[in-house]
Amino acid sequence: MEWSREERYKRVEDVSETYISELTKKVSEGPYRQKFHVQPKTGLLNDPNGFSYYNGQYHLFYQWFPLGPVHGVKFWYHVASDNLVDWQDLGVAMEPDTKYDSHGVFSGTGFVKNDQLHLFYTGNTRTEDWTRIPYQCHAIMGSDNQIKKDAKPLIIDSPIGYTDNFRDPKIIEQAGRYYCIIGAETTDHQGAIAYYVSEDLKDWKYQQAVKLKGNIDSKNQGFMWECPDYFELADQGVLLFSPQGMESKGDKYQNIYQSGCLVGEPLDFATGEFQITEMFNELDRGFDFYAPQTMTDPQGRQLLVGWLGLPGVDCVTDDFGWAHCLTIPRELSLRNGKLYQKPVPELEVLRGKEVTKEMKLENEMVIVSDFTARIYELKATFTKIKGSRVGVAFRMGAEEATYFYYDRSAKKLVFDRSQSGISATNDYGTLRKCDFSEEELEIHLFVDESSVEIFVNDGLEVFTARIYSKLDHNQIQFFADGQAFITATQWEI
Ligand code: FRU
Repeated sequence: MEWSREERYKRVEDVSETYISELTKKVSEGPYRQKFHVQPKTGLLNDPNGFSYYNGQYHLFYQWFPLGPVHGVKFWYHVASDNLVDWQDLGVAMEPDTKYDSHGVFSGTGFVKNDQLHLFYTGNTRTEDWTRIPYQCHAIMGSDNQIKKDAKPLIIDSPIGYTDNFRDPKIIEQAGRYYCIIGAETTDHQGAIAYYVSEDLKDWKYQQAVKLKGNIDSKNQGFMWECPDYFELADQGVLLFSPQGMESKGDKYQNIYQSGCLVGEPLDFATGEFQITEMFNELDRGFDFYAPQTMTDPQGRQLLVGWLGLPGVDCVTDDFGWAHCLTIPRELSLRNGKLYQKPVPELEVLRGKEVTKEMKLENEMVIVSDFTARIYELKATFTKIKGSRVGVAFRMGAEEATYFYYDRSAKKLVFDRSQSGISATNDYGTLRKCDFSEEELEIHLFVDESSVEIFVNDGLEVFTARIYSKLDHNQIQFFADGQAFITATQWEI
């Protein structure tokens, strides 16, 4: 069904209660609802927002359009958790109800200061002739979880040199000053990150665009960098963003839009220089990952949550009145200039029935009949590998299977979704690959009703994707063209 502009920008107040209750019913009765991922009760979810730890809880918000599985006028929806696993539904956090956010309360971040959670976000507005004017806005959440928006925006429109694609503020505190980095498109259509400085979080002065120094492919940077984030790990700077408009190159940049990071010397906000030591690297090698956001938690961990979806791509659940979900939280670390991502250990509380299998495979495929769960966590190590290929097929049955394997001849990891079941689109292909040449392989899967997240070798690589497989297709098969010793454990979730 096509949605007109009027329908996408309709006020929730103007929609009948019957419409909402019928939509809610359709969603809850439909297939593919997730069991342990944050998902919308109706409509469309996109970016995680305001990920933070405040008043003894993790707070997470997300971009939400309530009325259907399309990008319409966006809200912030609020969930909170004590353990990063069980998320309490706190309802709508911010509605598009002021003249500075009339066409969407767009993405932004949370920043804790003086016992308050400061929310910085982009107010998206359109004039009568549909010209976009972005505002960078601020709201405060207190310990009662009530949010109060400022009467006036902090930053009006974009400075000279940028288009109206100017959004997604992230606040960084350094040596007693505050910096606000913003995702931008320059007037010559290059992706950029602009930044402002403030002494008090209120009065913001434009500085410049972050100047990237070093080894960068300036011809393939894309036209717009969404959702920037910056943090330091192991004395290095990590600049994370989601560029739009990069051309695919070999196995890289296969999705409609990308999401990745640059690693370098700590960003020098005085000069705006970011000396890069590692080229742009995609954060996730799968089909469905975008607009991630990080926060530092009280234990000092850098945690990341992403959108398990992408803009401009249909979702199988559109027919059932909702679209997309968030990834599980991941803990970040930096090793040899590479960002590693591991599922947070808190997720272990989800573990139910546990089954472990050991096997030696020699040019064979073995179905593990004791692995019967549909929703599960699975860890498998492949050692003493010889030959050309080792891997696993899961969500397998007579008609479907999803494959993940190490192609040793090509030195690649391969994720094959071509036979996974229903798909909304194959426009962006059905295979994802990345370079890999380790001696041993460890895969760590989190399989929910309609998604899989595969962490490889302690988080060196991650593949994230939606899969829509038949209810009785739950077999797991290991295979080796050559040899491998495999130890595998499945925990039902
Ligand atoms: C990224 C994004 C952001 C924007 C938000 C609107 O997916 O386009 O740049 O703030 O979504 O929903």
